[in-house]
Amino acid sequence: MSASLVTVSYIGAIILFILSLGGLSNPESSRRGNLYGMIGMTIAVLATVFGPSVTMAGLPWIIGAMVVGGSIGLYAARKVQMTQMPELVALMHSLVGLAAMLVGFANYIDPMAVLNLSPAEKAIHEIEVYVGILIGAVTFAGSLIAFGKLAGKIGGKPLLLPGRHFMNLVGLLVVIAFGWQFMQAESVSAGMIALSVMTVIALLFGIHMVMAIGGADMPVVVSMLNSYSGWAAAATGFMLNNDLLIVVGALVGSSGAILSYIMCRAMNRNFISVIAGGFGSGAGKPASKADGETLPAGEVVSISAIETAELLRDAKSVIIVPGYGMAVAQAQHTVYEITKLLREKGINVRFGIHPVAGRMPGHMNVLLAEARVPYDIVMEMDELNADFPDTDVAIVIGANDIVNPAAQDDPGSPIAGMPVLEVWRAKTSIMMKRSMATGYAGVDNPLFYKENNRMLFGDAKKMLEEVLAALKS
Ligand code: TAP
Repeated sequence: MSASLVTVSYIGAIILFILSLGGLSNPESSRRGNLYGMIGMTIAVLATVFGPSVTMAGLPWIIGAMVVGGSIGLYAARKVQMTQMPELVALMHSLVGLAAMLVGFANYIDPMAVLNLSPAEKAIHEIEVYVGILIGAVTFAGSLIAFGKLAGKIGGKPLLLPGRHFMNLVGLLVVIAFGWQFMQAESVSAGMIALSVMTVIALLFGIHMVMAIGGADMPVVVSMLNSYSGWAAAATGFMLNNDLLIVVGALVGSSGAILSYIMCRAMNRNFISVIAGGFGSGAGKPASKADGETLPAGEVVSISAIETAELLRDAKSVIIVPGYGMAVAQAQHTVYEITKLLREKGINVRFGIHPVAGRMPGHMNVLLAEARVPYDIVMEMDELNADFPDTDVAIVIGANDIVNPAAQDDPGSPIAGMPVLEVWRAKTSIMMKRSMATGYAGVDNPLFYKENNRMLFGDAKKMLEEVLAALKS
């Protein structure tokens, strides 16, 4: 394939990637967006593999690696559960970081990479290598810890080392000092020492940064690592002189940065304070009075599936708030069956979606779209919050943190200030979950004890099937 044909293919692929990002911004066009992305990536891979920068001798290696990598990817994509998707994405981000590191080291020791370069070009090349490995190492280590936290292999409690801000600052200064030494290095082996020291510090920084983030703030970190992985790919593009990788990396990097900003606004957090860490606490523990903590006052009133069906049948207006538990139980299809039945009876049913419900951006929208819930009854939190006082029944399906009134009422709460869906303002709220356990942020929920709240204990799918049967009878 000639160089000009490769350039044309790259431009085509970039346009498709931009269309893909545009499509993914809306559930209705997201399938089309995915398709554009897949076609763009196929063009990009084919143009690169059959382009002039790959020799015939290298081709079997590349095809072999693609078969192995493609098979692992295919297996992982087929096997992964929807609820494990965020962990898989975090693991993928770590691979982008690892690739940037490896390409950086390989590029530095490859004498061909600096052949015929002027001193100024050589200096630019070295900066690319240093910065590329730095971003790659932070992304790699941070994403591995994020994977551990999302998979529940590492606790959600923030690790707050004494003097952590000071340690980060010292780390940054050492990285700058070794960067200077790296640029002055007379030989590759001298440069390798500076590169290795910086890599170790960057890895430790990545681990420390994500370990210091508490449960409820993980969405911001995940989107931030998404952005880092884009910049790591762009850095790899600079090292390999690949324009497509630079543009695609910048697209992913900037869209991830925008997503982080949106997440921060959704959580009412300052971006810098999230990175500095320390919000949130452990996850999924039963509410208890341990550590002198006071539990919210009041009585917990449970309700049966039959009573829930009666309340729904008598309602004029119902708001359904889905959360992570709906995804775990795979209850979305039953939710829609109930919705259809209620709408046929003339009841106004709408869904309230919190921006960080579930474990990944748009998690609930994807599940509801899969169950074919019409988009026009799926509303954002801000569109719906004012309507709760005029709502007869607000039914919370496997959600917890996103409906926690402590975010508004308790300034000392780890989730204080986070906007929530105000379900307690409805005439009756029904909380469907298996136990009194806390949600991802590990914070007790005073909603359980409110006078107008009822608890429907059990697996969301099983309980909803019972509600559906009662509604039909
Ligand atoms: P959570 O606060 O995690 O609450 C989910 C609740 O679902 C749990 O309290 C659990 O209680 C219940 N549950 C689990 N399995 C269930 C089942 N089979 N049937 C019924 N209930 C079940 O979820 P949320 O309200 O959706 O809030 C999301 C949280 O995740 C926020 O803290 C957010 O910051 C964090 N987070 C979000 C993201 C993104 S990007 N969305 C990424 C990382 C973290 P039981 O155990 O008692 O059943």
